Amino acid sequence: MTLDTTALNRRMTHFDQHDSVWLFGYGSLIWKAGFPYRERRPASIRGWTRRFWQASHDHRGTPEAPGRVATLVAEAGAVCHGMAYRITPDVFAPLDVREKNGYLRVITELTFADGGQDTGVVYIAGEDNAAFAGPAPESEIARRIAASHGPSGANRDYLLKLAEALRELGVDDPHVFTLERELLALLRDRPGRADGA
Ligand code: SIN
Repeated sequence: MTLDTTALNRRMTHFDQHDSVWLFGYGSLIWKAGFPYRERRPASIRGWTRRFWQASHDHRGTPEAPGRVATLVAEAGAVCHGMAYRITPDVFAPLDVREKNGYLRVITELTFADGGQDTGVVYIAGEDNAAFAGPAPESEIARRIAASHGPSGANRDYLLKLAEALRELGVDDPHVFTLERELLALLRDRPGRADGA
């Protein structure tokens, strides 16, 4: 079943009357904001782990050859590190469109790296969305990423930029760094198009 996540997200009016709200980013939202924000702070959320288990038919792949992008999977005790942005609620409308391939807004508690906590929103593509690809060996996910391109560019750039951004934040994410290693090995063996198009 295909969820109309844009329509569902529009129903989340919880923060509409707020002057500003925190948005937690853990994938492309870390390295490519592309929206106005008042401030940004490294942060983490509990109970979720980052996984490249979401297929991308519209950004980093095509319906015929979907790529793989990040979503969050519930895991007791896990901590996911990323970037929090303080935005005005009107920014959600364009974000709902950007995250339309299965991502729903979820309210979460954020812990800031420089101290303090607050409530915010994170976009999560759950297991019940049509593009959820689920677990697979990292070598297989890396092969898919190496081969996929979409309207937003090469799938490889999504992974490489995320790995670089996490390193800059001082975050160790074994899943992402294993995928990066596997991808770089594939690109060494089979360089492909250097322009990432
Ligand atoms: C996010 O970055 O927080 C959501 C997933 C993505 O847009 O890559």
